Amino acid sequence: MIELIHITKRFDHTVAVDDVSLKIDGGEFCCLVGTSGCGKSTTLKMINRLIEHSEGEIHIDQKPIRSFREDVLRRRIGYAIQSTGLFPHWTVARNIGLVPRLLKWPKSRIDARVEELMSLLGLSMAGYADKYPDQLSGGQAQRVGVARALAADPDILLMDEPFGALDPITRETLQLELRDLQARLGKTIVFVTHDMDEALRLADRLVVMHEGRIVQQGHPLQLLREPANDFVASLLGGEDRGLKEAALLPVSERMVPLGAGGVARERIDQTASLREALSVMLWRRVERLAVVDDDDIPIGELNFRRLVGARVND
Ligand SMILES: Nc1ncnc2c1ncn2[C@@H]1O[C@H](COP(=O)(O)OP(=O)(O)OP(=O)(O)O)[C@@H](O)[C@H]1O
Ligand SMILES: [Mg+2]
Repeated sequence: MIELIHITKRFDHTVAVDDVSLKIDGGEFCCLVGTSGCGKSTTLKMINRLIEHSEGEIHIDQKPIRSFREDVLRRRIGYAIQSTGLFPHWTVARNIGLVPRLLKWPKSRIDARVEELMSLLGLSMAGYADKYPDQLSGGQAQRVGVARALAADPDILLMDEPFGALDPITRETLQLELRDLQARLGKTIVFVTHDMDEALRLADRLVVMHEGRIVQQGHPLQLLREPANDFVASLLGGEDRGLKEAALLPVSERMVPLGAGGVARERIDQTASLREALSVMLWRRVERLAVVDDDDIPIGELNFRRLVGARVND
């Protein structure tokens, strides 16, 4: 769907992006991570031509982006940034309708679309449509930013730290909403973040950049287990990688059948992560948990040795 082929970007004498090649499949959730100044935002902005690349080629559906008309790129690619970029003197509804208006949709269709998006992102029309950006909380403004990015139903979403300024609870809600949107509507998402837990949780493909280059890319579990070098290992969490890996694996993966020892007192849902299970064990001071299904019926158990993945002879 999106292909960067030997892309280089120079600003005067700075090489911001250095010979980057990257292929992102349709429907994939790709996260770009790396230290500040390594070229993530520049890479993102070259995909929608907010920044022109110096060398190489960027393709969308195997066609160079420079061959697309501007309105086609606008319709196909949504863009959301941390600072939201909302127009302060426009209402929420007007901000969300920006791209459809530029594309000259009829008013009735724009109104219907704005209403649909606001309900999708949990913003009531009555409460927020006529508010101005400075009357919104940070989280509401970021939702409006995401709604605006989705307005013309683009198949590609570029998101640059879109949840950067949110508290962990609102952030997690929005992450789940975005994951759900992507699964339901098959969007291709390129997402920049400094929050490694966010990247590990969301990414199908995790891309680690350093000084303008891609150092490693692959599935989060693959990068956690086989980091290409010390930089990747440390960026992904260093000694915390055991917990980060556990956060990605479900309890059902290490569950054993219910034993003769009776059902354990403390319970954990089968869809919980191994990290959550470990936390419950620590908190409740137990080494054994009953694993339950959606109806709270015990279907197996998880013990500490299984949780840590100990081999039989250890
Ligand atoms: N318009 C510009 N003019 C000159 N240099 C620029 C410009 N935009 C970015 N740079 C430089 O290019 C490099 C990459 O910047 P970029 O914004 O892509 O980094 P980033 O990975 O997004 O960093 P951060 O995590 O801090 O947002 C930096 O060295 C930056 O100073
Ligand atoms: Mg940036």
